[in-house]
Amino acid sequence: MDDYMPAIVLIGIGGYGTLYVDEILRDTDNGLCALVGVVDPAAKASPRYEILTERGIPIYETPEAFFEEHTADICCIAAPIQFHTPYTLLALKYGCHVVCEKPLSGDFRDGYLLDAIADREYKFVISGYQWSHSAAMLALKRDILDGRFGKPKHLKTRVLWPRAQSYFRRGSGWAGKRYAADGTPIFDSVANNAAAHYLHNMLFVLGDRIDRAAMPVSVDAELLRVNPIENFDSCVLRMKLESGADALFIATHSTRENINPVFTYEFEHGTVTYAQEEKTGIIAVFDDGTTKNYGDPFADQMNKVRYAIRAADQDVYDRELPCTAMTAVPHARTIAAIADVPIVDVPESLTETVMMGAEKNDPLRVVVGLKDALCACYERGCMLSELDDDDSAALRDILVPAKDLPMPAGDMDEDAYHAFYADRPILDADRLYQAKLAQLTGKPAKKRGSRKKKTTE
Ligand SMILES: NC(=O)c1ccc[n+]([C@@H]2O[C@H](COP(=O)([O-])OP(=O)(O)OC[C@H]3O[C@@H](n4cnc5c(N)ncnc54)[C@H](O)[C@@H]3O)[C@@H](O)[C@H]2O)c1
Repeated sequence: MDDYMPAIVLIGIGGYGTLYVDEILRDTDNGLCALVGVVDPAAKASPRYEILTERGIPIYETPEAFFEEHTADICCIAAPIQFHTPYTLLALKYGCHVVCEKPLSGDFRDGYLLDAIADREYKFVISGYQWSHSAAMLALKRDILDGRFGKPKHLKTRVLWPRAQSYFRRGSGWAGKRYAADGTPIFDSVANNAAAHYLHNMLFVLGDRIDRAAMPVSVDAELLRVNPIENFDSCVLRMKLESGADALFIATHSTRENINPVFTYEFEHGTVTYAQEEKTGIIAVFDDGTTKNYGDPFADQMNKVRYAIRAADQDVYDRELPCTAMTAVPHARTIAAIADVPIVDVPESLTETVMMGAEKNDPLRVVVGLKDALCACYERGCMLSELDDDDSAALRDILVPAKDLPMPAGDMDEDAYHAFYADRPILDADRLYQAKLAQLTGKPAKKRGSRKKKTTE
């Protein structure tokens, strides 16, 4: 139906949500959809507040308030991580398809639940990893799936994205937090937020279906912190995969230099490289000497919204959904696997502060020697602790490497949910879980924390 125009509600209109406002208004102007409302408790602080009020778009402080007065076909969520699952559940409850920002959630178990509920309601939940919706990346993945590259061997990626204090203080103060005040897991970090795309991408391209990512078997981790946050701001992770391949993820917010994403994915019959700075696109060199340029994975960053608009009008089996909640689970599960790894506080003697911003009043905390060490890790395909040069000795001395951490257990299973939530404060999301689990399993949900042990009598 060519004239189908889904009604869209957007939750979160500041920060990254501004890109959604721009995209949905553009798509509205092009007759592809209609923005019917936005939700944000701090809407007035958004740079898009004025244009939204000028255009008469209703603004609400909570999704519940919006859904009391309106309906929508698609709900886009660009709110902080701790709201991803409760708002997705709420939107599904009110009959919406969902596009929820990455990462999936602070709790990887949510992927199984969201996917199962969406399926049952004939809805979809897209996880907003833009590279997983990019034509370039999907063309590469199709060639990998078709066997053009043979078996994966070594994948590695590096992102050096300095972030000053204003980044960690932004929004409602959730940056770098492990849990929200009500106990909802966030696990915000360089690996679970800004650079999450590049960790996810290594698992995504190795998925055995276009809409699946490969689940690591184990992960090695080195975590560092130099900012006043709960979680880490630099890391080296090495995921080991069932195929025998490994994937090295190197990322930091604590270097003076900004070095945009680079990756090298080595396969049996060819190597794929990408360097954002070089603007050459994703290039594959096959072992017979032929090359293929897949294009720029940054070419269309809001493609995810148009995937949703298209799919909302299609029958369940016709929908093209390359990145759903389930696709995002291996990334989220990797983050859970490293949740208890000791984070090393970098000693003052190895740090310096650079004042950033036009007024030079935004301190950036830098780890001395980290840039060179991380670049060496990338070149040699190794962890920081495996470097052997004198220059990195001071950094190596402070590391607490963790090796062969297993992926945490806990697929979609009613008992696992109840056990997990039993010792946590009551959340609205929890009540929704209970209700939705009851619907899913066809049984009334067990009461939290009230499960009786069977006696032998
Ligand atoms: N895909 C990407 O490239 C990309 C880039 C940046 C951020 N993100 C993701 O977008 C999400 C938001 O990140 P951010 O950096 O913009 O955060 P932010 O804190 O800067 O902004 C979040 C926005 O959500 C609003 N908000 C806060 N609490 C809310 C609530 N309870 N209900 C509705 N809105 C609420 C805030 O007022 C703000 O407008 C995160 O999931 C993040 O990982 C994605």
